[in-house]
Amino acid sequence: MASPQIDVDEIIETLVQIRQRGHSAHSVFRDWVNLMLFALQRRDDPYLEIVDDYRERGDMDHPDGQRSVDLFSKAFGQLQERMAATDADVLGAVYEEYGMSSDTFGQHFTPHRVCETMVEITGLVDKNDTEDRQSVCDPACGSGRMLLTAGRKQPDALFVGQDKDPLCARMTALNCCFLNLDAYIVQGDSLTVEFQRAWETSYSPMGGSVRELDDEGVEDLHGWMTDAHSVC
Ligand SMILES: C[S@@+](CC[C@H](N)C(=O)[O-])C[C@H]1O[C@@H](n2cnc3c(N)ncnc32)[C@H](O)[C@@H]1O
Repeated sequence: MASPQIDVDEIIETLVQIRQRGHSAHSVFRDWVNLMLFALQRRDDPYLEIVDDYRERGDMDHPDGQRSVDLFSKAFGQLQERMAATDADVLGAVYEEYGMSSDTFGQHFTPHRVCETMVEITGLVDKNDTEDRQSVCDPACGSGRMLLTAGRKQPDALFVGQDKDPLCARMTALNCCFLNLDAYIVQGDSLTVEFQRAWETSYSPMGGSVRELDDEGVEDLHGWMTDAHSVC
């Protein structure tokens, strides 16, 4: 098991119920992540497109509460419960555990305890010890686990994550939103510095929010990150 300290069995059971209706493991996980991301952004049109796709494949034939859309919501609730209980990267743990039976997942993330040690040795200072806003960057962020671990130590920092895998970038955006961090998450290649899309998550005392940047926002972010790297 990739993350033995986090119990994700209940969530996986719910996702497997959907998969058993003839969907691939990867498409179920991808649709779940997209539904959560669209719901948090209140983007009804792309959300309903996914719902319609399941409906066209007979989802309404299942009793109320057992339709795939209901099960996706249930899994969302279970994820939030586990995150509240552990403050850890439960989404990444589900990805690793659930994806073990499929070749199309293909990523493995740093174990939580190693993330904690790495955050300690990078010398991220405690928020009371500095006036300057720190920024924390992971150019190959996976599910965002390293950023989340740093976020628990220094929640006031600005977090920047990038991953070329679309699913990983989305998982990181969700995780940063769940942990109520100020963050920019880019889907794109860190080596060629190409940006495909980007999300911004913002802290609020009422809970985090997430929004996808428009083309101009992505371009501005690209310029800012390129300048920041050239100074380093
Ligand atoms: C081993 S995972 C590590 C994830 C995360 N940093 C962690 O500690 O859990 C490596 C990640 O790097 C991403 N990756 C590999 N090459 C990349 C590149 N050129 N640009 C952006 N991301 C890349 C992969 O998609 C994968 O999610």
